[in-house]
Amino acid sequence: FKTVQFQTDLLNWYRENKRDLPWRKQATPYHVWVSEIMLQQTRVDTVIPYYEQFMRLFPNMEHLAYAKEEAILKAWEGLGYYSRVRNLQVAVREVVEQYGGVVPRTRKEISTLKGIGPYTAGAILSIAYGQREPAVDGNVMRVLSRILHISDDIRKAATRKKFEECLYELIDPDDPGSFNQGLMELGALICTPTSPSCGVCPVQSHCQAFAVGIQTSLPVKTKK
Ligand code: ADE
Repeated sequence: FKTVQFQTDLLNWYRENKRDLPWRKQATPYHVWVSEIMLQQTRVDTVIPYYEQFMRLFPNMEHLAYAKEEAILKAWEGLGYYSRVRNLQVAVREVVEQYGGVVPRTRKEISTLKGIGPYTAGAILSIAYGQREPAVDGNVMRVLSRILHISDDIRKAATRKKFEECLYELIDPDDPGSFNQGLMELGALICTPTSPSCGVCPVQSHCQAFAVGIQTSLPVKTKK
C-alpha cells in the first residue's frame, strides 16, 4: 500500500473539493466539539443553521457553561437527543472549572469528559489540535473497509479498534485534521453506502475493493 501517495491524493482532493461548512471556518476545540456532537445523530444540512445559531447564542465555552438549561434546550429544539446538549454543558463546565478553560490535549483526559467518546475525542484532537489521532465513525469505517479490504463486522467493538490502529499508521503527519476530514468528505460525497462514484474517486488507484469489484459488498455489517 502506497501510504504517502494515498495521503497526497486524499489531501489534494479534500483541499479542492471540501464543502464550505461553518465549523471549518474556525476550528477551535469548542467549535469542533459542538459541530461533532450535533453531527452525531443529525445530517449536515440540518445541522448548519442550528450550529450557526448556537454559536451566536453561546460563542465560547464560558457562555455555554453559565447558560440556563432552558436556553440550551431551546437552542437544541428540533435536533432531538437532548442528552447530547445536557452532557455538552456538563463537560464544558468541567473544562472551564477544572482545566482553566482549555480543552485537554490528550486522548486520556479528553475522554473523561461527559459525552466525548473515541470518535469525538479523535475529531477534536486532530482537527483543532493537529494531532495524529483517528476519528472513526460509520462513514470512515465504510471508506476504509473498501480501501483496505477489511471484512470485519463493523457492529463489533473490536472492529473500530482495528480501524483506529490502521489509521495511526495512515494519517498524514503534516495535516491530520484535513486527512481525517478528507475521509469523512470522501464518505459523504463519493464513497457513499450503495452507489459509490468510483469513476471519479481521487483514491480509486489505492482501493483494494474497487480492484476486485466488491466495493458495494463492504463494509460487512451483520444484522442485530
Ligand atoms: N460528519 C461528522 N463530522 C463531520 C465534519 N467535521 N464535517 C462534515 N461532516 C461530518
